[in-house]
Amino acid sequence: MTLEFAGKTVLISGSARGQGAAHAMRFAEEGANVVVSDVRDELGEGVAERVRQKDGRAVYQHLDVRVTAQWDQAVARAENEFGGLDILINNAGIVSCDAVDACSDDTWGIVLDTNAAGVFKGMRAAVPALKRAGGGAIVNTASMMGVVGSWGYAAYVSSKFAVVGLTKSAALTYAADNIRVNAIAPGCVDTPMLDEEKAIMASNPYWDFDEWVATQPISKIAQPEEVSELVLFLASDRTRYCTGGVYPIDGGSTAG
Ligand SMILES: NC(=O)c1ccc[n+]([C@@H]2O[C@H](COP(=O)([O-])OP(=O)(O)OC[C@H]3O[C@@H](n4cnc5c(N)ncnc54)[C@H](O)[C@@H]3O)[C@@H](O)[C@H]2O)c1
Repeated sequence: MTLEFAGKTVLISGSARGQGAAHAMRFAEEGANVVVSDVRDELGEGVAERVRQKDGRAVYQHLDVRVTAQWDQAVARAENEFGGLDILINNAGIVSCDAVDACSDDTWGIVLDTNAAGVFKGMRAAVPALKRAGGGAIVNTASMMGVVGSWGYAAYVSSKFAVVGLTKSAALTYAADNIRVNAIAPGCVDTPMLDEEKAIMASNPYWDFDEWVATQPISKIAQPEEVSELVLFLASDRTRYCTGGVYPIDGGSTAG
């Protein structure tokens, strides 16, 4: 049986833990060559090692998504190590829960630099390589907070709306090059980021996470592996007619 991503190479930003690590494991299971990348080098090396222990193919590359030169190095690593780049998963991100009147210039800067400029720089670095490979797929990680607003989260919501805009612009631009660009819009996913959010928001008397989850159409949070299924689907030829889309995976939270 031929695995779905046999012979394909995927570069995943922020894949040392959380959703990115789950995506790396699933792509490897489906036969892809995986470039695991992150700023958390030890954790990232560990993910690549886990893939290899399961007879998959993976290397780890340090990549701060805010730094153009590091994107160029990561794309070159994919091409040198595996002979080309077919898929880019822009997954890296950070969260800030601050409302407009609490958000400092520094917080605004780092969140937009990471979540929005990081996606822009990633696509800018990867597009020439995807063209050299004859086409490919990009999956950007937005959020349900890139589709609807949220109390607080001024910089985060803004950054994720930017990801949606970048996705649509790039989809229109590169369709003729056989490059598809889509975004996912997750709701709450069980990762270290969500733990950080819960710790920050615990002191807010108006915020009750468990109560919020209980009132959602599907009253539970997602596991990272559930998000990986959508990411692999959008990266695969099964969705070859899909580009410019923003796909919710939020248990119905934004359906109403
Ligand atoms: N967890 C959720 O509920 C949720 C919901 C919607 C969207 N998202 C988005 O999903 C993506 C993955 O988040 P997660 O939940 O797995 O969180 P996470 O914090 O577990 O993982 C994020 C990863 O990104 C890395 N990272 C942070 N800054 C970076 C930088 N400058 N360069 C490279 N890597 C960097 C971190 O080291 C980490 O490994 C993010 O874009 C996040 O905004 C998460």
